Amino acid sequence: MAKVKRVPFIAGNWKMNLDHLQSIAFVQKLAWTLKDANHDFGVDGAEVAVFPPFTDLRSVQTLVAADKLDVRFGGQDLSEHDSGAYTGEISGAFLSSLDCRYVLVGHSERRTMHGETDEQLARKVAAALKHGLVPVLCVGETADDLEAHGPSAVPVAQLKAGLAGLAGLAGLSGTPELVVAYEPVWAIGSGKAATPEQAEQVAARLRETLAEVLGDDVAAATRILYGGSVKSSNIASLMREPNIDGALVGGASLDVAEFASISRFSKHVGT
Ligand code: PGA
Repeated sequence: MAKVKRVPFIAGNWKMNLDHLQSIAFVQKLAWTLKDANHDFGVDGAEVAVFPPFTDLRSVQTLVAADKLDVRFGGQDLSEHDSGAYTGEISGAFLSSLDCRYVLVGHSERRTMHGETDEQLARKVAAALKHGLVPVLCVGETADDLEAHGPSAVPVAQLKAGLAGLAGLAGLSGTPELVVAYEPVWAIGSGKAATPEQAEQVAARLRETLAEVLGDDVAAATRILYGGSVKSSNIASLMREPNIDGALVGGASLDVAEFASISRFSKHVGT
């Protein structure tokens, strides 16, 4: 597989926390904290992104643009449809026009609480790419899956299913950019993160799967994140693993100082 540099990516999933006013104060403080720490965005440091609730996005966009902040942002979900009679849904086109670069697809809370299926998520991945967004496809096994099938089977199957929509994307120019987030469901919000060895084992299988489905170049360029109880105290050991290129952070992303120190543990990998 070709060796390329993958810029580390630290993503904060706010879930249903912080309203639009709080989001402004938070992102401002985050940008200052990262700057104070000589955070070197896009060069030697990590790319940092936040995923606020939809109602915050316009405020975050305005702030980031006005102050030229080194913080990216994205939506926590998108509709598989472009527009129409879909009450409560948000189109990828709307996210794109708010300068979102990323969108989460298939977070385990969407899969379990909202019944999102692999087939639907494949359509969402395709919709994201169609609208110029980078999908962050989340995959991961439950504790029961782990016991029944071992660590990799369910995440690999979810990744294959999520990529199925790419075949139907006529006119997609160039190689698709996507991010994969491996989030064992048993580690989310539990305070019990996977060990670096466990996370690496699955991340390596996910990269092999990307190579099988999309080819070596895409596999080598795609960032694979680990998520599930990431903190400043465990990020460094996770980031040392060759196939882990960053983290999707939930609870700890709501604390500016903690999220900024997670973002500082960064490196280029695969050089
Ligand atoms: P956590 O959540 O960091 O609070 O475990 C991660 C996630 O749900 O993305």
